[in-house]
Formats: sequence, structure tokens, C-alpha cells
Amino acid sequence: MAEVDLRGVSKGYKDTTAVDDLSLHIKDREFVALLGPSGCGKTTTLRMLAGFIRPDSGQILIDGRDVTDVPPERRPTAMVFQSYALWPHMTVADNIAFGLRLRRLPKSEVDDRTARMLEVVGLPGVMRRYPSQLSGGQQQRVALARALVLGPKILLLDEPLSNLDAKLRVRMRDEIRRIQQELQITTVYVTHDQEEALTMADRIAVMNKGILQQVGDALDIYDRPATAFVADFIGSSNLLSGTLRLGGTSAVAQVGEARVPVEADGLPDGAAVTVSARPEDMEVLRAPAPDAFRLEDPRLVNFGAYKRLLGRHPAFGQLEARVPKAFALGKEPVYLRFTRARAFTSDEGDRS
Ligand SMILES: Nc1ncnc2c1ncn2[C@@H]1O[C@H](COP(=O)(O)OP(=O)(O)OP(=O)(O)O)[C@@H](O)[C@H]1O
Ligand SMILES: [Mg+2]
Repeated sequence: MAEVDLRGVSKGYKDTTAVDDLSLHIKDREFVALLGPSGCGKTTTLRMLAGFIRPDSGQILIDGRDVTDVPPERRPTAMVFQSYALWPHMTVADNIAFGLRLRRLPKSEVDDRTARMLEVVGLPGVMRRYPSQLSGGQQQRVALARALVLGPKILLLDEPLSNLDAKLRVRMRDEIRRIQQELQITTVYVTHDQEEALTMADRIAVMNKGILQQVGDALDIYDRPATAFVADFIGSSNLLSGTLRLGGTSAVAQVGEARVPVEADGLPDGAAVTVSARPEDMEVLRAPAPDAFRLEDPRLVNFGAYKRLLGRHPAFGQLEARVPKAFALGKEPVYLRFTRARAFTSDEGDRS
């Protein structure tokens, strides 16, 4: 059993607020990804969970116990660093056994647990090698085994795959998830890679500028983004700035001279809004139609499985739509229509 509670946790440095009033509950055995752009406070959050950094304010609870002032070695956490940080002068076996020996466990138990961990991470047979004699992916597995061998209740991973090539990243992604399921260990996984977060995690916590934007599963985050930042950061979106105009049952955003029908849950008439529409939520037409507008300077970019249609509109600026791979442009004009657009207040994500 290992659940984690971050309660109003903040951490500032001289001129930045790295983490701003963050509250997050992580359930027993849950795999949560902390996702956000560089500098948004992911590593700072993870280090506070591990106990390497003390929050300026707020509390951290593990299984209901306040550990805010408990040092790292006395927390039930283990952290895997982006750089692996293996000891180069020790063999694989010694790297993994190091922590067990510090705890003065009997030799037979140290050997058993080391061998078992190498099996769990899929690395039997390299015990006697040195880290320099391993591939990046193998070193990553050793770092994981070294963290797991002490039997932590909570595994903390900081961008563990960022040094690996694209193919290996995808394989290790599945591996880490398999190991997490096998050991049933509560896991917090830091990444700036949305695909990693979406494919691995039970829930994703999206951060921007130290502020938690939204917590939810892959579908929530993609389909029901809570802020314009999330809509833009996850997948891609056409973003427009406008003013909300509420009618009886309709809501539109006035964008310059043009209007876009929007979903605008609970926002007041006249609000300054950011409108977000996914490329797949743009309908492409060959003839004028109600609510459709002409796309200027249309051009196509090929993505293999599909194409993107790019172009401009005088009020909306640059736009893109997703089209089938067989789609072609001729001399005739093309028209676009928003089939689903969402309005968000423009000032979200900046509390200060
Ligand atoms: N020791 C420090 N001293 C001063 N500022 C720091 C320190 N550590 C982090 N920061 C600042 O705090 C903010 C959050 O940093 P953090 O390392 O948590 O970001 P991150 O989300 O992990 O980014 P990345 O994806 O680049 O690793 C950044 O603006 C960073 O410059
Ligand atoms: Mg970081």
C-alpha cells in the first residue's frame, strides 16, 4: 500500500516559482505521469517527493503520514535519474547490490535479490560487466534494477528514456510499464513527451509554469482539455483569440470580423477567450456553405498516413486541418468550417 498526497506544495527559487501551490493525490499502485514543457517544475516536484528538496510551503503525505521533513533515505521512495548515475568502477551486480550491502543484509540474500532483479528487468547474464560495456537501454535497466532492489513502495522516474533512440524508447516504455504492473508499485513518471505520458500512465498531470493545469486519463486530457494550454500542448490545435458572445442557446467567439461557434462551459458573455480547434475538427469543403470560409494560400504537408492542409484566413490567421492521404489540391478554392471549437478564458495558466 502506498498512496501519495501533495497538499498545496510550493517551491520557489530566487526569481522563479518552480512549483506553485500544487495539490495532487496519487492512488495506491497508480502510474501517474507528470507532463509539461521544459522548466515547468516536473523535476522539482519529483525531488520534493523523494525528499531531496524541501517545499517552502505545503505538505507531502505518504500513506497518510506527513513526510515533509523526512530525509530521502527514510522515505519509502526510490528515484531513477535521467543520467542513470551508475558507478562506472563497479560491475552491474555490484551497482545493484550496493544499497543492500549498505543495509548489511546477509550475502546470500544480497545475491538472490540482485539476481532476481536482473531477471525482472530482463538482463540476466550481464552481472560481471561494467556499465561502459552496456548499451544505453541496458544501462537504463540496471538503473531501474538498482532502484527497485531495495523494495521501495514508490518509484520515481525522471525522464528515464530521454537518452535512448526512438525505437528503443518505445520498447523500454512497454518494459517499464510491464515491470510496474508486475511489482504493483506506485509510480510517478516525469516526461515532456506527450506520447510517453499518454501511452504509459493511468493518469496524466499536466503542468505549465509550476501550475498544475489538469489531471486525467489520456482521453480526458485529449478530448476535454481544461485549459487552452492543455489543448495546445497535447496534440495540436488551431488557437484563436476573441470575445465570447452568448445568445439564447448559442455561443460564438467574435474573432476580428469573423465568428466561430464554440463550446464555452460557464464562461460569461463578453469574456476574453482563447478558442481551440483540433485539425481533425476542421471540415474541408469544396464549395461555399453556411459558417464555412475560404482558406487562402492552401498547401498540403504529407505525413504518410494522412495529410495536413495548411492555409490562412484574414481574421483567424494560420490554420490547419487534417485530411485523408488521398486528398489533393486543384485550382478550385477550398473552404473550412469549424465542427468543434472550445473557448477557454485567456488568462489561465498565469496565476500571478
Ligand atoms: N537549483 C535551482 N536554482 C534556481 N532555479 C532553479 C533550480 N532548480 C530549478 N530551477 C528553476 O525552477 C524551474 C523549474 O525547474 P525544473 O527543473 O523543476 O523543471 P522541469 O520541468 O524538470 O524542466 P526540464 O523538462 O527541462 O527538466 C525552472 O525555471 C528552473 O530554472
Ligand atoms: Mg527536469
